[in-house]
Amino acid sequence: MRVYQSENTEIGGAFMKKPTEMLSEEHQHILKVIDAMETECGSIESGKAVDSEFFRDAVDFIRNYADRFHHSKEEDILFKELCKDTVQLHCNPVEQMLYEHDLGRKFVKGIEEGLKKGSKTKVVENARGYSELLREHIYKEDNVLYPMADMALGNEAQKSMIKKFKEAEEKKFSKGTKERYLDIANKLGRRNTRRKTG
Ligand SMILES: [Fe+2]
Ligand SMILES: [Fe+2]
Repeated sequence: MRVYQSENTEIGGAFMKKPTEMLSEEHQHILKVIDAMETECGSIESGKAVDSEFFRDAVDFIRNYADRFHHSKEEDILFKELCKDTVQLHCNPVEQMLYEHDLGRKFVKGIEEGLKKGSKTKVVENARGYSELLREHIYKEDNVLYPMADMALGNEAQKSMIKKFKEAEEKKFSKGTKERYLDIANKLGRRNTRRKTG
């Protein structure tokens, strides 16, 4: 998996991260949780009991960090910018991306229902479904949509998006909330490393 990065990004005379690079960095945290969830599913398939605390943490991270924090910036800011009449795109994958965000929400609901019912099969099916969907979704964004957005959006649009990203982050997350979710991702990631090596 390639982390989407463009070099020497000059926006408005200053070198700074592009909005798409900021989003791509967030993908790395999401992928850490997806990796951990896939390893957990493998263990359950080999006979281990469902660890409800693990899945509660994963669902909390996905709902709040992946969806409320990351997907909302894509939906409310990046995708809206890409759908403006003035933006020329060879093809517009926004509709498909929105569909996949919605599908992801259904899988998360399924994990939660599985936990409530104590259904191993439902937890694993939905956790695997989510992981597969998001892994491909992130790949498409990093390798197709974000490079397309960089080409299509001028400096002014990108500068304004960075400002909107900051405002959205402050509105969605109170001080320290982002760090708390990154800690959860690191905790789940560490557990995953122990599993793989242990
Ligand atoms: Fe997305
Ligand atoms: Fe994304």
